[in-house]
Amino acid sequence: MKKNILIVPGDGIGQEVTEVGKNVLIKIAEKFGHEFSYDDALMGHVAIEATGNPLPDETLTKMRASDAILFGAVGHPKYDNDPTAKVRPEQGLLRMRKELGLYANLRPIKLFDELLGASSIKPEILKGSDILFFRELTGDIYFGEKGRKNDNNTAYDIAEYSRYEVERIGRKAFEAARTRSKKLCSVDKANVLETSRLWREVIQALAPEYPDIQVEHQFVDSAAMMLIKDPRRFDVVVTANLFGDILTDEASQIAGSMGMLASASIGDSTGVYEPIHGSAHDITGKGIANPLASVLSAALLLDISFGLKEESDAIIAAVDKLLKDGFRTRDIADSTTAADKLLNTETAGIELL
Ligand code: NAI
Ligand code: MG
Repeated sequence: MKKNILIVPGDGIGQEVTEVGKNVLIKIAEKFGHEFSYDDALMGHVAIEATGNPLPDETLTKMRASDAILFGAVGHPKYDNDPTAKVRPEQGLLRMRKELGLYANLRPIKLFDELLGASSIKPEILKGSDILFFRELTGDIYFGEKGRKNDNNTAYDIAEYSRYEVERIGRKAFEAARTRSKKLCSVDKANVLETSRLWREVIQALAPEYPDIQVEHQFVDSAAMMLIKDPRRFDVVVTANLFGDILTDEASQIAGSMGMLASASIGDSTGVYEPIHGSAHDITGKGIANPLASVLSAALLLDISFGLKEESDAIIAAVDKLLKDGFRTRDIADSTTAADKLLNTETAGIELL
């Protein structure tokens, strides 16, 4: 298969982990006889430094022309510590999602058995957890009107959803539930928010089209609690942008670490595959970031954008073997990890390949 893949490492540990993800793609292409070509582009803080724009037109043009995008993360403490900064790395991220129509963010939360001990949650509660989140990605409070008023003394962010937006992410989730345990949980705050009442109305209206799927509605606050109390009760979960952002970071503890979770953002055109973590400036440059989220993002890319299931499974099996062999990066290591099995970003890539 001939494909071109755009590599957008972004900022901080994005640079470090995406290199490992790319190397895995190169290796898989060799092994399975595919011809993948690669290009790269700037985004985030590095793009602001180079061009003044967090998502330069050149990057967007390359994104549109590619068959899939492997992305790292954006962000820099410079902006986090300066709430008045007008140009920010995250603006690039939001604009990319909007411009590419990436309305569905898929976040599989799968616990590798070997990592049962890495989580702060009890193994007997975790064992067998396997959740697929569908987070809506181009609407909600992130994209509504925002601003200041009353002489800068009041701030506002407006949350908006259209029927159409809820319906298209809802359908994706119902369809995914069909291929799994046929259970769908829709998370909202319909007791308080009007956007959530529309959300629930639309999901309820879709349900008769999927009679084989058992639908449940949960409020986000209780869903947040149930997620760590009894993660196995969830299978496919569909929710709005803000709720999904928070719940999936919480759910990363089910998988042991932020460094283990991959995501796929799909929609109208080229898909974007990225770890759920950010640029992690607390560990940037130390070479200790766990690259497995980027590696697992590469696996999602092969499966979803190229339909290469066998190749994708080969990557997941390699990660599984690495963990079975006792290798750990610091974020997933514990007191039983042997000193010679402790990996940094680079050696994790080498062991894996
Ligand atoms: P973060 O996800 O970057 O880090 C949270 C914690 O998890 C940190 O202690 C970090 O060291 C650890 N961590 C994250 N990924 C790891 C990995 N691969 N291996 C080992 N440990 C890992 O979130 P934080 O600290 O809230 O934000 C840092 C910057 O990233 C901010 O500028 C933020 O805006 C940005 N950000 C960007 C995202 C994106 O580009 N998609 C998503 C989330 C945050
Ligand atoms: Mg987040």
